[in-house]
Amino acid sequence: MRSSRKVLSVMAALFLLAGCASQPRETAVTRSDPQEASAVKVGIAMPTRDLQRWNQDAQHLKQELEKLGYAADIQFAGNDPDTQISQISKMIDSGDRALIIACVDSNSLSGVLERADDEDIPVVAYDRLIMDTDAVDCYASFDNYLVGYKQGTFIKEKLDLDHLDRTYNIEIFSGDMADNNSRYFYEGAMDVLSPYIEEGKLIVPSGKISQEDTQVSGWETFTAKARMDEIRSMYYKDGTVLDAVLCPNDTTALGVIYSLTVGYNGSWPIITGQDCDTANISYMREGKQAMDIFKDTRKLAVKAAEMIDDLLNGREPSVNDTETYDNGSEVIPAYLCEPMVATADNYWEILVESGYYNEEVVS
Ligand code: BGC
Repeated sequence: MRSSRKVLSVMAALFLLAGCASQPRETAVTRSDPQEASAVKVGIAMPTRDLQRWNQDAQHLKQELEKLGYAADIQFAGNDPDTQISQISKMIDSGDRALIIACVDSNSLSGVLERADDEDIPVVAYDRLIMDTDAVDCYASFDNYLVGYKQGTFIKEKLDLDHLDRTYNIEIFSGDMADNNSRYFYEGAMDVLSPYIEEGKLIVPSGKISQEDTQVSGWETFTAKARMDEIRSMYYKDGTVLDAVLCPNDTTALGVIYSLTVGYNGSWPIITGQDCDTANISYMREGKQAMDIFKDTRKLAVKAAEMIDDLLNGREPSVNDTETYDNGSEVIPAYLCEPMVATADNYWEILVESGYYNEEVVS
């Protein structure tokens, strides 16, 4: 993590960059016009354009950074760890003075971030924690355990597991193992569901329960669909009813919905999701996805931009968690925003009335 010596030298660099020798540094940084060549550049490294959310996150971050007078240098890595390493390396070469990174692979950035650290470039891990490096200054995310916990609780309550005296069939999907968040989503959900599986109230016909056995590489829709197709052909061909599918996010939920749409004739299962992508909101309105997790990424972007501004100006970013996120090298101070449950009943209020989506987008 940044030593005060490093912070001072970042401040000195900004002071020079802003070209305002007689002005206080903070004023010089915040008053820059992002359109000007002199504006301090912040690299935004996003995992992929394939998910709606990362495109939105990048735009929100750009807006928030520009409000503070910074210029944004956005790159998407096509979900490829090596591409992301080379993009971050180029950001450093091209003079970006701070980095906001939503990593593709939580474990692959320690090398390139050593360079950032050597050059006194502050790093904010965005949404996903970056592991095994002391170059990360802070972490802006949602409470990832709570995301899974809310998904598991939704299933528990909808099936009324504490009261109804019957068994239900469930299948479990988890996210990409290279994404540190995936573990938290899985653990949050399974802390709720496991006792019922152990008790025999929830049955997993495929027998696939561990995070490893249920992972969906790259969080990809068609990988999830292929997994659901296979499970169906092996365990549900005889008409066995599927009551619930734990899906960690919306892209995996889409894959499960696509699979079940063809030739599944049982009553429709409870399917969970996360991100409130517009395609999934449509399915929620049709009753095919029972719930979603809304993560207001506008708030996350405000927080990450504030962290960058604080770090570049020698201030300590404000955080609300200093215990949970140990990246293997140290505990990274984090600010965790709260995820909310969205359903067909409240999506209009939390997504449209809050201004997150325009009416036409989700009508
Ligand atoms: C994010 C989710 C997203 C998933 C796939 C996770 O790290 O927290 O919001 O759906 O990655 O991109």
